[in-house]
Amino acid sequence: MSDVAPPKRTKRRVAQLDAADTAARPETATAQIVARDLCKTYVMGGSAVHALQDVNLEIAAGEYVAVTGQSGSGKSTFMNLIGALDQPTSGTLTVDGADLGKLSTNALAQYRNEKIGFVFQTFNLLPRTSALDNVALPLLYAQDTGDAKARARVSLERVGLAERAAHEPSALSGGQQQRVAIARALVNAPKILLADEPTGALDSKTTEEIIALFEDLNESGITVIIVTHELDIAARAKRQITFQDGRVVEDRS
Ligand SMILES: Nc1ncnc2c1ncn2[C@@H]1O[C@H](COP(=O)(O)OP(=O)(O)OP(=O)(O)O)[C@@H](O)[C@H]1O
Ligand SMILES: [Mg+2]
Repeated sequence: MSDVAPPKRTKRRVAQLDAADTAARPETATAQIVARDLCKTYVMGGSAVHALQDVNLEIAAGEYVAVTGQSGSGKSTFMNLIGALDQPTSGTLTVDGADLGKLSTNALAQYRNEKIGFVFQTFNLLPRTSALDNVALPLLYAQDTGDAKARARVSLERVGLAERAAHEPSALSGGQQQRVAIARALVNAPKILLADEPTGALDSKTTEEIIALFEDLNESGITVIIVTHELDIAARAKRQITFQDGRVVEDRS
């Protein structure tokens, strides 16, 4: 896939955004996600990889954001930090007022359960496990087993897969498997849906269906952040953020 070229846009801004610049965004008052001088450095065999460098940005509740950039530019790192799958090296990342760098392990697990739905390119479904049980899984982790199956069924209905509840992943198409993964991400009623190249393994027709589903979920009020290499998908998002070498080099809406 080619990298994303900028479509015609108003309000196009190029260059690393500093705190003052992001503070000028109109949605500042309702910012849900706030990154300030956010850095993530991995040390591998004695050498440091600066996966994110001084990222400053704000994302408001209910936004639909596409994250683009070349391979290795820091997109997944950014998503993993928001999803609390990883911790910042320095700077701050605040979500709904909680500084993720300061939360305990338990508080981070609770944050992930309550606020975040994560969707991956490779679906990450459990094999030999029904769609319904795959979707119910996060509720079992949360020890919230009471009406888990009923809630899982509602979530499967929401992605249009109720009639496939008993199917195992191997008996589902790629698009259906990704719908199950989205239903699993939705089962805890998250406020933020993070999707890291969710259509990377899908054909164009299925991609269209999945993107339409994300748009629908965003319409219902969920913040959607989607990493994509595909120009047309990025262009449909209300805002595009581009990373390069761990920095935000473009942010347009
Ligand atoms: N766990 C890790 N340990 C060491 N280095 C890492 C780790 N995760 C990511 N990196 C490095 O951090 C940089 C950013 O990686 P990241 O996965 O965020 O890129 P990406 O933009 O998602 O790329 P792609 O489009 O290929 O998925 C890369 O140089 C990568 O090699
Ligand atoms: Mg990635």
